Amino acid sequence: MIDHQLRRSLTRQCLLQELVDTPRSLSDVSEIGHRIPTCLVCVIIEQSLCLIFMFDIMHIYIIELQRVVMDVRETWATRLGFILAATGSAVGLGNIWRFPFLTGESGGAAFLVVYLALVLVVGLPVLLVEFVIGRRSKRNPIGAFDQLNHSQWKIAGAVGAIAGFIILSYYSVVGGWVIQYLLASFTGGYGTDAQAFFMSTASGPTTILFHAVFMALVAGIVALGVRNGLEKAATVMVPSVIILLVGMAIYGSTLSGAGEAYQYYLYPELSTLLTDAVSVLPAAAGQAFFTLSLGMGVMITYSSYLAEDRNLLRDSGLIVLIDTGIAILAGLVVFPFLFTQGVTPGEGGAGSIFISLAGAFNGLPAGTLIGGVFFFMLLLAALSSAFSIFEVVVSFTIDTFEITRVRASVLLGVIIFLIGIPTALDLTYLDTYDKFANNILLILGGLLLSLFIGWVYASDATHELRKGRAESWIGPVWINVVRYFVPPVLIITLGLAVIEYYDFIQSTFF
Ligand code: TRP
Repeated sequence: MIDHQLRRSLTRQCLLQELVDTPRSLSDVSEIGHRIPTCLVCVIIEQSLCLIFMFDIMHIYIIELQRVVMDVRETWATRLGFILAATGSAVGLGNIWRFPFLTGESGGAAFLVVYLALVLVVGLPVLLVEFVIGRRSKRNPIGAFDQLNHSQWKIAGAVGAIAGFIILSYYSVVGGWVIQYLLASFTGGYGTDAQAFFMSTASGPTTILFHAVFMALVAGIVALGVRNGLEKAATVMVPSVIILLVGMAIYGSTLSGAGEAYQYYLYPELSTLLTDAVSVLPAAAGQAFFTLSLGMGVMITYSSYLAEDRNLLRDSGLIVLIDTGIAILAGLVVFPFLFTQGVTPGEGGAGSIFISLAGAFNGLPAGTLIGGVFFFMLLLAALSSAFSIFEVVVSFTIDTFEITRVRASVLLGVIIFLIGIPTALDLTYLDTYDKFANNILLILGGLLLSLFIGWVYASDATHELRKGRAESWIGPVWINVVRYFVPPVLIITLGLAVIEYYDFIQSTFF
């Protein structure tokens, strides 16, 4: 047994070494590269609202997919593995379920504006912070700070691990909803009343059962080591999700409620934008971190397997682009259907995407078939994200308590399942967990990481970024943003979030 484990660990080490050592040409990414102009700021603002850009992203995926199919297998991990793993982690329920639901709850367009701004000026720099820490240390978030000789900053890893427990516990519950909708697609549809169907899905004993199924799948993926399969699934999953969403968005645009929906979603009231911005800041920042899988060390872990000659800026730009584009699309789907069904966005709440799509699929010819494909893709997206959270929690536990990986996976699977049970019984608990983990813990994690890179590790970090041949002006700009801009924004956000959370707890439970 020990011998077997040793051999596996040696093989893994050799593979990783090979991954790091293999010199690879940049020509393979140049194809992607020339599609991403230097000014990412302009790209995101200009193109994110435009469906054409989705086809561009799909094109990139198709080019890569063709290469992978035609090429030798070993190069998979070296060339695409990272982008796939990181996109697989980022694209998930956060984009398709959480983003439209929060936008609806927070008043629509003003939230969208603040969210987009935060993704750009905070999300992207913090993503680079995590990439730099990961590639520099070549360790998981806990080991990373030891490796960089700054052990006391491990507290950031611990904050991340706690966030991971909480997030995964209810993420798995929502994953269970997706499984239920998937099954419903094949067994008679989503009922006649989309809202009632959602309510019966979202809480109760069946919800707990499917929460257990989802959690077992996540733990099983780790135990069976089929992680690669999941990453490969991302090549199909991401374009499929995009195609389905584009199709539904186009269909949605023909509905009677579309005009009102776009007004609500895309046109902020300039007169109240500033006051609205302050009130939605905690939620928008929490969402920016959640959707990009930041503040928890996931991206540290993934970039720790990354080769030195990767252009970190380019990779992070691509990930942000895909992730943000999918979220915007999800909104373009959800709101027209909600308005047409006469459900106000606030009323839809956590059920927004499920209610709007079930209603839509019900009315379409072959709707349950399209629904089946959609929910299957959503399940893949949710699994690859959940997996990345679980990875961090498992490696934290292995490092801290020195137990085996399989044992840690089973144990943690059970613990996280138990923690999630209240959220499967009452949506109020789901809100309570969700706000605490995202608006407070992830922001705190991100703040600590930014302070570390900006104030303690700045010169090494800039050096690390430059290694990937990022344009030379990027390093100083980035480090100044991380040093002077990101921390104050996150401190203000955190303060507002704590006050808001206190009020929320008071008004909900007392
Ligand atoms: N980004 C994922 C989503 O949008 C969720 C997720 C995966 C996540 N890993 C994370 C969120 C780490 C926070 C931290 O669905």
